[in-house]
Formats: sequence, C-alpha cells, structure tokens
Amino acid sequence: MHGRLRTEVWQLADAAAIDEAIRRAAQVLCDGGLVAFPTETVYGLGANALDAAAVARIFVAKGRPAGHPLIVHVPGESEAQEVVADWPPAAHALAQLFWPGPLTLVLPRHGRIASVVTGGGPTVGVRVPAHPIAQALLRQSKRPIAAPSANLSTQISPTRPEHVLAGLGGRFDLLLAAGPTPGGIESTVLDVSVRPCRLLRPGLISATAIEAVVGPVERVAHGAMSRAAHDPLPSPGLAERHYAPRAILELASDDGVARVEHWLRQGVRVGWMCREEAPLTSSPLCIQCRLPDNAAAYAARLYDCLHDLDAAGAEHIVVAAIPADDEWMAIRDRLGRAAFRPASAPGS
Ligand code: TXA
Ligand code: MG
Repeated sequence: MHGRLRTEVWQLADAAAIDEAIRRAAQVLCDGGLVAFPTETVYGLGANALDAAAVARIFVAKGRPAGHPLIVHVPGESEAQEVVADWPPAAHALAQLFWPGPLTLVLPRHGRIASVVTGGGPTVGVRVPAHPIAQALLRQSKRPIAAPSANLSTQISPTRPEHVLAGLGGRFDLLLAAGPTPGGIESTVLDVSVRPCRLLRPGLISATAIEAVVGPVERVAHGAMSRAAHDPLPSPGLAERHYAPRAILELASDDGVARVEHWLRQGVRVGWMCREEAPLTSSPLCIQCRLPDNAAAYAARLYDCLHDLDAAGAEHIVVAAIPADDEWMAIRDRLGRAAFRPASAPGS
C-alpha cells in the first residue's frame, strides 16, 4: 500500500485563480503526479498518458483492475491523431460534429501510448473534452492525459469536487475544484476500428445522433454479453456491476409508490427517485429525489442524486420507471448496472 498523500485542493473562483491553478496542475502532471479535474461529463483522475509509471498510479489510487483501459484526453482532433495508428473517415466525421464533447472514439493505438493505458489491448479510447478547465489543462500541460472517472473502482462517478475528495482524498496529488459537472454521466464510447461501428457504452451523445453520421451502429445490450470466460471484456465499462450506490437499488415498473410503501411498512429507510410531478411524501423514513422529465436534465442530476441518497443513509432505493426511447438509453444503462445483483446473491 502506498503512503497517504496530501491532496492539494484549488478552488477555481476567478480568472487569476484559474491561471495559477492550471499552471500548478500542469506541473504536477509533468512531474508524474495525479490531477483530478472537471470535464463536461464527470470529474476525471488524470496522469500524463506518455508516462507509464504515472498512469500505473491511477490504477493503484482507484483500486482499478489492470485490464481496464483508460480514455486518453487531448485538446483537439489533430492531437487525437497523434495517439492512434489510424484515423478513418468515420472518426473524422464524428470528430467534426461532436468534438469537443462527450464522445470517446476507440481506435488502434499508436506505439507511443504505453500498454498500461490500454489495459494491454491493441486499441485506445480518445476524447476531446469540452469543459474549459479540461481544455486549459490539456493545452498547458502539452501532453495527452489518461483519465478514468475520479472514483474508487465500481463506485458512482463524481459530479462534484466533494464526491472526488470523499472517494479518493489522500490518494492523488491535486484537485481542480470547479463546481458540478454539467453533463452528469460519462461519455459515449464508440469503437470505430470495426465495421459497423460498435457502441461500447451509451452516453450523452445518443446512438441515433451517431447513426446519422456513420450509418447503423452495433449496440451491445446490457446483460447480453454471452462471452466465453477467457474472452477479454469488449469494454470493461460493460462489466455489469458498476456505478453502484451502497444501497440496494430497485427499478420499479411504474411510478414506484407501491414499492416505496412496501419498504416503509418494513421500517426500511428508502430513497425514492421519482419524477418532478410525483406527490411529496410525508414519511420521515422516505428520502425523495425528484428528477426532471427531460433525458439530458435527468442525466445531469442522476449521480448527484445517488450520492445524496447514499450520504443520507438510504438502505433501499426505488427508481420510478423511465421512458423506453433512445435518448434515455444511457440512463437506463447506468440504472441497470447500479441495480445489478449477481443471480446467486442473497436478497437479489
Ligand atoms: O466521460 C468520460 O468518459 C469520463 C471523463 C473523465 O472523461 N471518463 C470515464 O472513464 O468515464 P472510465 O475509465 O471511468 O470509463 C472508460 C470507459 C470504460 O468503460 C472503458 O472500458 C472504455 O471507456 N474504454 C476505454 N478505452 C477503451 C478501449 N481501448 N477499448 C474499449 N473500451 C475502452
Ligand atoms: Mg468510471
């Protein structure tokens, strides 16, 4: 076990503070340290992607299995081309439309990207984040930054600096604290090294929007991975138990009222993730999170709400059913994983 670090926290209150913090953070990265920073999706835990020893520290800090590849963040399309071995027309078309933004493209990796970054695999995920702090950090450090979400492995991704510190404080060097991240859930991950392109993780950019650019996309359904035990994971984000709150999470087939009442009768402290129009409950045992009806706005609040319910000591979470259409796909995916229990687990 490595020693506990002192994590420097920089509050990015004004332009002068931002400049100084970005310079300091870039220096930490160049010296082989770990920096947590905001992106438009969630906070990331970054290291210089060209420094294998620094990247290895990310895996230690998160308790992340070595085979799980990291996304490499770069400031623009031309820098993206420097970390991959091939830049097909589909990648260019998608980059033109969706970068900077929450889309990660998986392509054959360039030799300068160490294999620790890619989990030993032949491909690398690359993305251009839109958040101005992430952009400033990438431009100042002049290096690609390998960064997973800044949470302990299998825990919920952080959307606020407080979440990063609660999960990883003392395990990394510096935090750029810039308030909540606007998107709320992670980027879409798309394998563009295969034909048709393959959706490895649904995210803020919908499959429909991608299909309008590259034609039909193969969708890997949650829970539909019938692979042999020796096959590597197509994308470890597809591991079923992921994005998990401490409480047991249950997806209701309706607004969830009946399930909430069921748990309240048993004296269980229950969290209820309902829609905005749901009636307010009067039970002191029920912690209510009222979420918007619009998919993007719901995504922006989703992890925040799970973090809040965890912090409030919810033992069981009931989630009101969400729509079946494509724009809710990433939300269904994350909730499905958060609810997943191995078939053999008691009480599943
Ligand atoms: O929005 C995001 O993508 C955030 C921010 C920080 O950029 N990052 C993030 O990283 O969510 P992480 O490590 O928590 O999730 C990365 C996902 C995983 O599902 C991983 O398996 C997949 O991307 N991935 C990365 N590189 C890959 C590759 N070469 N092949 C297949 N999947 C890959
Ligand atoms: Mg993650």
